[in-house]
Amino acid sequence: MTTVRFARRPLETLLAWQRRYGNVFTTRFLVFGTGVYVAEPDEIRAMFTGDQSDLLAGEANSLLSPVLGENSVLVLDGARHMRQRKLLLPPFQGSAVANFRSIIRDAANAEVANWRPGDEFAMRERMRALTFVVICQAVFGVTEPTRTERLRRALLALLDLGSSFFLPAALQRDLGPWSPWGKMKRRLAVADALLYEEIEMRRREPDLERRTDVLSLMLQSRDENGEPMSDVEVRDELITMLAAGHETTATGLAFAFDLLLHNPTTLNRLRDELEGGTDAYLDAVVTETLRLRPVIDAAERTLTKPRTIAGYELPAGIRIYPGIALVHMREDIYPQAQHFRPQRFLDAKTESYTWLAFGGGIRRCIGAALAQAEMAEVIRCVVEGFELSAVKPVCDPVVLRGVTLAPRHGTKVRVERRLPTARRPAREPALAGGA
Ligand code: HEM
Repeated sequence: MTTVRFARRPLETLLAWQRRYGNVFTTRFLVFGTGVYVAEPDEIRAMFTGDQSDLLAGEANSLLSPVLGENSVLVLDGARHMRQRKLLLPPFQGSAVANFRSIIRDAANAEVANWRPGDEFAMRERMRALTFVVICQAVFGVTEPTRTERLRRALLALLDLGSSFFLPAALQRDLGPWSPWGKMKRRLAVADALLYEEIEMRRREPDLERRTDVLSLMLQSRDENGEPMSDVEVRDELITMLAAGHETTATGLAFAFDLLLHNPTTLNRLRDELEGGTDAYLDAVVTETLRLRPVIDAAERTLTKPRTIAGYELPAGIRIYPGIALVHMREDIYPQAQHFRPQRFLDAKTESYTWLAFGGGIRRCIGAALAQAEMAEVIRCVVEGFELSAVKPVCDPVVLRGVTLAPRHGTKVRVERRLPTARRPAREPALAGGA
């Protein structure tokens, strides 16, 4: 019952539990077992900054390893996790992400070029197409249309089987092409063949050293012992970044448009600020969207030793959920927490560990800067270029899709008109780092 209620209305359910039990409470979910939500920033800070060797995150994701692979940064813990993380981080740091802004702008312009007045569509679907192109170009370094299309078909066919990734071990059996696991295995084989082909081709590229895409940088990175990543490691991280970064960013964008289109004063202010040539408000819109609609409702750790958290002695083996959404909804931290008010991030400096959309500590989202830059650039492109209206009179209810929160109807919008180019100011290249 708890699990069903949570899956149907995750945010409302979490808030109801918080009202009833306070900022630290226990739940029991099907499959995942007993877990403790923690919505105290100081306690979360202690978990994210102190010794984290007794708080495993990879183990909780191990169900994903048949698809993501044994070397995926998401499923590893300890020294092996740190090795993969260090190899992956450089291309995602602020200055490197600045290089991706032009890729994002081109992808956004190509997407909106097809929009016509009168069109109606679910924004989340359009944004999924767009964020795939960005990952394909910025992460895989693939720009050629035929190869992009082959990768898109194979990889999205695999990721669309999302629920099969979580099949219990007993059902992970290939009973032919129509069985859930059989289907998954076949799609995985097609996707893997393409990924290994890309890796092989890239290794032979004469200008590898000059390339700035993540795959090329991974192929050149070395660990402390001077060892490069193997092809299998590279494949595992490529698919991990797609799985972790494509739908999450698309959903974040769908939420942003849902909130903007239902808050016309905020939308007009954003347009005015962009027309004035400043990005601070745009960045605040991204930050506030991810506060009010965090795509991941909670981080997740498995305790390996008994630990005292918020005064409670918790046993080994249970899950701890640093409550991203719960902290974001606290009225004492964010007055009028249910309102969409980007201005709050311009009025006051956010205390650390009160804004947690990308988790924290040694597991903080690797793609945070890329995701924020992407959200900002895509919102800019759409808001400057179009007048849209929301098809639904109120914001979409928030539901659970796999492990992410999402707008139930995908944010249905209608294109009202294309804005004259005069509304679109000439712009200096934006700085990296997002909100
Ligand atoms: C709005 C978009 C995104 C959101 C809300 C988001 C959120 C998160 C969260 C909450 C975590 C877990 C952090 C923790 O456990 O403390 C995470 C991990 C991760 N994310 Fe993201 N993410 C987004 C986009 C991306 C992108 C674009 C990429 C890469 C291209 C990416 C790659 C990863 C990876 C590899 C991890 C695992 C890090 C580790 O375990 O060391 N994410 N993300």
